[in-house]
Amino acid sequence: MIPESFIQELLARVDVVDVIERYLPLKKAGANYQACCPFHSEKTPSFSVSPSKQFYHCFGCGAHGSAIGFVMQYAGLGFIDAVEELAQSAGMQVPRELAHAQVERARKAPLTELMARAMKYYREQLKTTPKAIDYLKQRGLTGEIAARFGLGYAPDEWQALERAFPDYRDSGLVECGLVIENEQGRRYDRFRDRIMFPILDQRGNVIGFGGRVIGDGEPKYLNSPETPLFEKGRELYGLPQARKAIHETDTVIVVEGYMDVVGLAQLGVENAVASLGTATTGHNVQRLLKQANRVVFCFDRDSAGDRAARRAMENSLEFLADGKSVEILQMSGNQDPDEYIREHGRAAFETLLRDGATRLSEFLVREVRKPVGEPIERQFNLASAEGRAQLVQEAKPLLQRISAPILRVQITKAIADLAGLSQAEVEAQCGLKPLARTRYAPAQMQHRRAPNSIEHQLLELVLRRPERAGRLPWDSVSLDSAEGQALRAIAEAFEHGELPAHGVGQLLERFRGSPHEALIAGIATTLTDDMDEGALETVFTDILDRLRQSGLAQEIAALSAKARVAALNPDELDRLKALLTRKTRGAAASVPAAGHATEPSKGG
Ligand code: UTP
Ligand code: MN
Repeated sequence: MIPESFIQELLARVDVVDVIERYLPLKKAGANYQACCPFHSEKTPSFSVSPSKQFYHCFGCGAHGSAIGFVMQYAGLGFIDAVEELAQSAGMQVPRELAHAQVERARKAPLTELMARAMKYYREQLKTTPKAIDYLKQRGLTGEIAARFGLGYAPDEWQALERAFPDYRDSGLVECGLVIENEQGRRYDRFRDRIMFPILDQRGNVIGFGGRVIGDGEPKYLNSPETPLFEKGRELYGLPQARKAIHETDTVIVVEGYMDVVGLAQLGVENAVASLGTATTGHNVQRLLKQANRVVFCFDRDSAGDRAARRAMENSLEFLADGKSVEILQMSGNQDPDEYIREHGRAAFETLLRDGATRLSEFLVREVRKPVGEPIERQFNLASAEGRAQLVQEAKPLLQRISAPILRVQITKAIADLAGLSQAEVEAQCGLKPLARTRYAPAQMQHRRAPNSIEHQLLELVLRRPERAGRLPWDSVSLDSAEGQALRAIAEAFEHGELPAHGVGQLLERFRGSPHEALIAGIATTLTDDMDEGALETVFTDILDRLRQSGLAQEIAALSAKARVAALNPDELDRLKALLTRKTRGAAASVPAAGHATEPSKGG
């Protein structure tokens, strides 16, 4: 790992023209340098190097990049080698940090080994303990499934693990949660007389255990504590075993318990994982949506299950993408998935999964018809203005978290229908930026092929001078587009002082490997050098003015929409009046004195 700051320093020190000149002869042409492109064969030079942007670009084949990019492309080096090469030529020493992940792995390795050994020991014990085997059989499990999930048995003894480990005093045993040490320094096994469910990480290493009592007893499940290996809320039980089936079915089923995963697999439903009684975190949702396009959460139909469903919905909103589907299946009766499939069979469970699950959008719309946490009987009275306003208030924080544009429009429409408002009014009330933006092409840029969105134009202007990112009015720049998100990322980097302005080449390296890389590179190649800096600045301030005006318009729309369903409080009324006044003044150069606000401006 090479620190980002070093990359930026390197690019500030080397000059792209010098670097490229080492490899091919450059000829000055205006502000830039030219050559025949080394990356495709040509007779007339279309390869151009810009010292002001610290960037090269071939108009023939589209090759482009920073000094690092050139060395990579020309010398066929990897990123790290290219950085080494450039650093050497600049007399700089590349600081080498051992990758964080590498350090972590080295620290965890001995613990992982202890856990693997414990699993092996517990599995052996299961084979020689009839009462444990009987218990699993009685729950419908075969030896094959027990082996697939590595199930074991922890003997009914205080120090059984002494037989598995040569050194029971090894501090690692306490560290990884297998052994407990009391205040007197006496050690004993954490898991005793329990069926053991090993929890594996992505690589298949054992990172924790869940131990179930045989029959009744408290606690029903005892779990490994948080350890350097095991971070609760992060791991999903059964993922390594389910991976193949997840790919085949393009679906992940998320259940609540160990036995649900194992019981479903026993009957052939192999694409289930468990969140282990903890709430499904956004991290998990994100991970699962990378592996399959459909994620179905199964929850018991009790108050805990309902709360869990709500949490899963909230945590999924920001990771939803158009084309992905998150669904919620609330089991009927008092059965969990394991019990259901045992009684009704695989086909019935699959039918339930197909027909009984509610899409997240529908679930959300159902949820906002009542206050959070209240039963469905407490629905707002949508015949009254207050009820409709409450509905919109409930929906607001949820709508704000949805980043998938099409989905958000669909849900917003559904909410608008219920509230008797237009989609635009709901968007305004919830502070959502409309997705379709008016396009604006200032005179100076009209030679472009097609008028670009405001965000696209802003991005061009920011790429020319990154410090402009610090002047953007965030409440009016839409984050719905890739351009908007790139702008936000650049502004954040700028705020953190990560962007000394050395041209677009440096900016490009800062965002190498990020989702914004392609967009920034694409725009960088279209930037021409023939623009007058003063004119560009005028364009920029022009756009900022327009954005501020549309920000006012949106706030007015929100307050007016609210006024239609409920009375505005005095503050809101004042605010609305002030906004309307400011809007009438428009972009007039001079502002009339207070009291003449409604008269057209004469000055200016
Ligand atoms: P459940 O109580 O629903 O258990 O807890 P279950 O999965 O149906 O288990 P069986 O069928 O009775 O064997 C769901 C999950 O909550 C966690 C476990 O991860 C369990 O699988 N849990 C539950 C605990 O960690 N401790 C407990 O005491 C109970
Ligand atoms: Mn169960």
